[in-house]
Amino acid sequence: MSFTRRAFVKTVGVGSAAFMAARRSAWAELLQAPAPARAPRPLLLHNNENPLGPGEAVLEAVRSALGQGGPAGRYPWDDVTQLHQAIADRFGVSPENVVTGCGSTQILREAVQIFTSPVKPLVAGQLTYEECAGYADLVGTPVRAIPLDRSLKLDLEAMADAARGAGVAFVNNPNNPTATLLSGDAMDAFIERVHTAAPDAVVLIDEAYHDYVTDPSHRTQIPRAVKDPRLVVARTFSKAHGMAGMRVGYAIGHPDTIKRLAWEGPNALNVAGIVAATASIKDEARLRRESARNMEARKFTLDWFSRAGFGGTDSQTNFIFVDIKRPAKGFRDACREQGVLVSRDFPPLEKSYMRISIGTLDEMKRAVDVFGNVLGVKAKAA
Ligand SMILES: Cc1ncc(COP(=O)(O)O)c(C=O)c1O
Repeated sequence: MSFTRRAFVKTVGVGSAAFMAARRSAWAELLQAPAPARAPRPLLLHNNENPLGPGEAVLEAVRSALGQGGPAGRYPWDDVTQLHQAIADRFGVSPENVVTGCGSTQILREAVQIFTSPVKPLVAGQLTYEECAGYADLVGTPVRAIPLDRSLKLDLEAMADAARGAGVAFVNNPNNPTATLLSGDAMDAFIERVHTAAPDAVVLIDEAYHDYVTDPSHRTQIPRAVKDPRLVVARTFSKAHGMAGMRVGYAIGHPDTIKRLAWEGPNALNVAGIVAATASIKDEARLRRESARNMEARKFTLDWFSRAGFGGTDSQTNFIFVDIKRPAKGFRDACREQGVLVSRDFPPLEKSYMRISIGTLDEMKRAVDVFGNVLGVKAKAA
């Protein structure tokens, strides 16, 4: 077949006109067509976050800090000083009692780094929040892991006995993942026992979920920590303050101990996180609303499990720890298929316990429908 230049031009010309017309009509169709359905976002009930995020005062503080001429282009030293003052004012202590970090994770790690060594072990529960034990492993500190008692609480007596010769005794109160609380009196007695058994050991108390506690037997150990160089209390803005993505945590303690924890200086934080935390610590009304909101959604969820025949611990946090009477993995996988993410395994209890974070009440109403499907149960009428 001969293929002349003229025929080629003609072919291309005709073809391209047809092509353009087809393309125009395809665009027109596309513009008129409804947007393709997006997969709905799963319910995120796996990381113990605040489902609402930070409050309006926090967002406003961040917006103005990031504006033209704001502090974002400067090192954050003055802003950190203001944050420390705001935290100190909130607890009636002095800024020398306060250290901040990139999340409380940084502070927990620093405590392990500074106060333990290959010959000064870490004492921690088994199960508890694993950051300290994980970091101890990394830096070569032996870990004395003490099993929970029968009510799935940290066994303070056994932990105090194990503290002899230790560098740090770590207590998470209330405890992640079991959601259980130890009373203020029990904590006082524990601290005294550790001080007697191990005068050099630091008692590190992680009160990450303090703002969600509703049991009146609870007491923060902050007033004691400011006077006791062997006691440090860690807190975070990641939970009730709703700022997990902004990475701000703090610890309160005796000035001599805080000075040792503060070796990283003020550069661990960024200006957005600092101004957010400063605004949030002053917004006590928002914190109270968040605690009440969580309590209602937590009660709804625990009631549903109870009416469906499943028990759990008495949660004092923004998550619950439920005996689902079957391995966590199968339950988790089936929930994920139906758009709900729940926690990972927590050995040695992964054969029957599941941790579920508390979202909004509406989210929990949707979640229990999924849990009912997966467990093959219907809750009895309320
Ligand atoms: C008990 C406990 N402490 C500390 C943290 C870490 O907090 P941050 O986000 O401040 O590093 C968590 C996070 O889940 C936690 O559960």
